[in-house]
Amino acid sequence: MDDPKIVDISGIGETTAAKLKAAGFTNIEALAVTPLRELIEKSGIGEKTADKITNAARELLGLDFITAMELYERRKKAQRLTTGSKNFDDLLAGGIETQTMVELIGEFGSGKSQLCMQFCATTQLPLEKGGLGGKVLFLDTEGTFYPRRVHDMAKSFGLDPDEVLNNIIYARCYNSDHQMLLVNRAFRLVREENIKLIIVDSLISHFRGEYVGRENLSYRQQKLNNHIHKLLRLAEGYNCAVVITNQIQSNPAAFFGDPNRPAGGNVLAHASTHRIYLRKSKAGTRVAKIIDSPCLPEESTTFVITSNGIEDPDSDRTMNTEAVSTEVTEQVELLEKT
Ligand SMILES: Nc1ncnc2c1ncn2[C@@H]1O[C@H](COP(=O)(O)OP(=O)(O)O)[C@@H](O)[C@H]1O
Ligand SMILES: [Mg+2]
Repeated sequence: MDDPKIVDISGIGETTAAKLKAAGFTNIEALAVTPLRELIEKSGIGEKTADKITNAARELLGLDFITAMELYERRKKAQRLTTGSKNFDDLLAGGIETQTMVELIGEFGSGKSQLCMQFCATTQLPLEKGGLGGKVLFLDTEGTFYPRRVHDMAKSFGLDPDEVLNNIIYARCYNSDHQMLLVNRAFRLVREENIKLIIVDSLISHFRGEYVGRENLSYRQQKLNNHIHKLLRLAEGYNCAVVITNQIQSNPAAFFGDPNRPAGGNVLAHASTHRIYLRKSKAGTRVAKIIDSPCLPEESTTFVITSNGIEDPDSDRTMNTEAVSTEVTEQVELLEKT
């Protein structure tokens, strides 16, 4: 059977369909997961119609209620993606799990984008090598995606670098609305293109820049919340992994003095499945620490960034993890207060 389309929803006339299309709702999944108020505001359709459309879309996709057994079966299909570093994989109990979202948090230069680019390559490794044997969808909000870097990383994994680049579907996001629209469109792409990893690097920079000041904070959080839940819905519905990044400033003065504190504190803490805090450390090493995970212990590990990509440090480069652990804990406490 063909996948259901918007026109399959009974009661949608041509006028409504055109309005939905103009507002960027080009597929049924987006209709099913968009909050009613947003659907009304963006498309200009009436509340009654919007309500009918949302419910019909959910029904067509078989969302809403499933049995616990179905949930169990769905979870059993979860796969693990290698990060390319044994340390990092161990930290994540075997790699990044599909159907979940990983949030990489850290200061500028802590390695968030490097990790994202590395995952673009490892996702394309075959299953027996720890990959997901699939394509990648990359939403770049800061213009920091370097194809040449991914090319080099792909080579170091013995992959055909041109093929790896061909299998990354890339979009540069210019503002938060554009970013949200691209995620709406992602529902169709993910289904049609065997996408196994979705990256948003960085998730909140546009939101932070556009919704400045306390008076805009709740609206911003609401939008962000909606955005994150769509990403989670993609992960769960299509058995793919989602990786997002979140840049923070560790300078306490900037943390507490600035009314535009890191966006998404609470929203992200609840929605993202695993948060990993990254920071630079001594002798070119970097530390990664699990925070706020429902099922992983709050452990930390070290890695290095080399011309090959992300790797485990040589043993003589390993530093005093205990001291770093305390530092990381302090930073995390600061983050929690914002
Ligand atoms: N080819 C390379 N070889 C070694 N290190 C690199 C290479 N490219 C980037 N790096 C390291 O990665 C850092 C940038 O990390 P990045 O992931 O862009 O940070 P952010 O967390 O801001 O996204 C640089 O400061 C550099 O230390
Ligand atoms: Mg970056």
